[in-house]
Amino acid sequence: MSVAQLNSRPNLMTRIEKAIDRSLSKAVSLESPSKLAAAIMYATKPGGARVRPTILLSVALACGDDKPPITDAAAAALELMHCASLVHDDLPCFDDASMRRGKAAVHIEFSEPLAVLTGDSLIMLAFETLAHSSSTDPVRSAKLVLALAQMSGMPNGICAGQGWESEEDIDLAAYHRSKTGSLFIAASQMGAIASGHDPEPWFELGNRIGEAFQVADDLRDALMDSSTTGKPSGQDARKGRPNAVAELGEVGATKRLKDILGSAKECIPPCPGQAMIAKVMAAEASRFVPHYSKLMDTLPD
Ligand code: IPE
Ligand code: IPE
Ligand code: MG
Ligand code: MG
Repeated sequence: MSVAQLNSRPNLMTRIEKAIDRSLSKAVSLESPSKLAAAIMYATKPGGARVRPTILLSVALACGDDKPPITDAAAAALELMHCASLVHDDLPCFDDASMRRGKAAVHIEFSEPLAVLTGDSLIMLAFETLAHSSSTDPVRSAKLVLALAQMSGMPNGICAGQGWESEEDIDLAAYHRSKTGSLFIAASQMGAIASGHDPEPWFELGNRIGEAFQVADDLRDALMDSSTTGKPSGQDARKGRPNAVAELGEVGATKRLKDILGSAKECIPPCPGQAMIAKVMAAEASRFVPHYSKLMDTLPD
């Protein structure tokens, strides 16, 4: 199969789901407490858009993907961490959101204790998955553990992002970069690491895609209804969260989104699959805010 075929969205989705299933089978068994096992499955299957592992696999393929089992482990670990962050984010002590991915949030469907434990279990499973990948390549495995830990914890990861919400003065750029950008930086850098490449040149691509993604999410939150997004809308205004629409207005935020996406192309490092990765990024970006493509088109370049 050619790299372009391997990179088609259906092929990537099949690969991602199989990798996630392999990880989940380590945590969910007949011996597990049945309600927590059910909550873990509910939080991960079916998934959302799987955008982070899609980027990770695409970068890995662009860099040669010479050890596919370690790429699969990285993709699964990253998506499990993302699913954990959503379960915790929806809890009453954070966003108090009752809906996620078009169904009841985990704490509503199960209970608050089970939602806390689901998020915790998925975080552990993410690192367990990476630890197992040391049998394929111990050096890459250790680098992946470090990258995922740094992009999930403090001072720059998801924990920092959620931590900003307890501060009086919030820097919008730092808030967005840590709560959302971090896992996009992880996606591009972990893809490079899984293929034995230096992650450093891949930082900026993940950073810009992550920034664009959160601006798009702020636009969706302000302007779309929950039947379209599958989660409560108007949350940012209701909770007083700093967001791109409040800061820049609808047109300003859309222009910002267009500018960031335009500049992301220039950040793709030289690699065997440079042209291919540009196409994947454009396809992923066009899915961020499909309803706004008309508004995007009306703005000057
Ligand atoms: C939602 O991420 C959380 C944000 C960082 C805005 P996604 O929109 O990628 O969620 P799923 O996985 O597709 O549901
Ligand atoms: C979520 O940010 C970032 C996480 C760490 C999960 P939001 O709170 O804006 O994302 P949604 O709108 O709930 O998906
Ligand atoms: Mg939140
Ligand atoms: Mg939220």
